[in-house]
Amino acid sequence: MKIEDISKIEQEADRVSALYDIFDEGSRLSTKARQVEFLTTVRQIEKSLRPGMKILDLGAGTGEYSLYFAKRGFDVTAIELVEKHVMQIKGKVDFQMSMEVFQGNAMDISMIKDKTYDIVLCFGPLYHLSKIQDRMKCIAEVKKVCKKDGKMFFAFISNDMVITTETMLYEEDFLKGNNYNHDTFKVVDFPFVFHTVDQCRNLLRESDLKVTSEIAADGLSELLEDKINNMDEESYSKWLNYHYYCCEKPEFLGTSNHLLFVAEK
Ligand SMILES: C[S@@+](CC[C@H](N)C(=O)[O-])C[C@H]1O[C@@H](n2cnc3c(N)ncnc32)[C@H](O)[C@@H]1O
Repeated sequence: MKIEDISKIEQEADRVSALYDIFDEGSRLSTKARQVEFLTTVRQIEKSLRPGMKILDLGAGTGEYSLYFAKRGFDVTAIELVEKHVMQIKGKVDFQMSMEVFQGNAMDISMIKDKTYDIVLCFGPLYHLSKIQDRMKCIAEVKKVCKKDGKMFFAFISNDMVITTETMLYEEDFLKGNNYNHDTFKVVDFPFVFHTVDQCRNLLRESDLKVTSEIAADGLSELLEDKINNMDEESYSKWLNYHYYCCEKPEFLGTSNHLLFVAEK
């Protein structure tokens, strides 16, 4: 199916599934440049992680985060909408891991008991759910299953940086086209839903959550993908250190493709 036809699919779950027939989620974090988002996010999660903690990964994709933490001995539950992804995760779980995998929708995880998890990851649903009330419903579910002192991690895609990367990397004519409003710079919410930094803050604030950190998860890494992928190990390690230094500075937030928000009740 062509991408234009996918945008016309009414049912959210069917639309997301059709989208991942085109996008290969399994290779999303597969290069040095793409790993920057993963390594930065893991580093932030590990600041809150203590032995014995329970982790929920909502919108788990093909299980990059779930499997990483399950391999390190944490008790992990992965919930994912797309059946193909669920099967891919299940295929990687081994008997030594304490890990459950379910197919489910982040808007309704009533099969999970309230206040069960120390850490809840929500990396995907908020940039797929097209209606704001559904995104609020998803955040309410995250909040419900998170323990009183638990931490919640939310990923967003930055509206403002997408205009730069689309123009510079993929589509020179993007600036002249209709994929964004030329006055407000709001990008059309397809194939993903895009948020400005303030919209992320407002969404979490309106959900009655306290934001404790705002992180430029991948910074300039998508824009500089070729350069980063060609770095030798020493330069890559220096690049990561420099990125870690920048990613917590508020002035870098808007120039990151992915944004990571950490919140508590
Ligand atoms: C780009 S992937 C990210 C996967 C993984 N969390 C990561 O960060 O690498 C987004 C994932 O969110 C899933 N997703 C989107 N909407 C969802 C929903 N309403 N409920 C559960 N999963 C959803 C998609 O199927 C997809 O696998």
